[in-house]
Amino acid sequence: MKRGLVPLVAAMALFSSAAGAQQALTDSQKIGQRLATQHCGVCHFHIQINSTASYGPLLSKANFEGGRDAELKGVIANGGPNMPGFKYMFEPAEIDAIVDFLKTVNPPGLTAEKQ
Ligand code: HEC
Repeated sequence: MKRGLVPLVAAMALFSSAAGAQQALTDSQKIGQRLATQHCGVCHFHIQINSTASYGPLLSKANFEGGRDAELKGVIANGGPNMPGFKYMFEPAEIDAIVDFLKTVNPPGLTAEKQ
């Protein structure tokens, strides 16, 4: 039971410090950071410091280049072949907040090296 909490806490610290170092977050970005840490980090950033693998692609502002906001909000809402959809869990405004936060993350995304 306790062992399960350790990667989660480590992951939250990782997300906070990496984003915090880049810029002060707006209220919307802070909400997005909290939701992304809780619901997306397990697949979308490196949790294990002894592995560079992540299950899904690392996410950063680079994913949104070229006007992909609507497309990627659709992925978050509906999921993908290997990703669950979040449309029954999040309000559209919460998905907007997650995207607001992800756009503060420098590529290649949040990794153990950036602690
Ligand atoms: C169970 C693992 C898992 C979880 C949890 C998850 N994803 Fe994903 N995500 C994936 C995978 C795998 C892909 C690649 C497409 C596929 O195979 O479905 C993906 C693709 C994406 C993409 C598309 C990236 C691109 O540039 O095409 C976005 C954006 C995304 N996820 C955002 C999120 C957000 C935001 C959350 C949390 C609300 C989240 N994902 C939660 C596994 C996950």
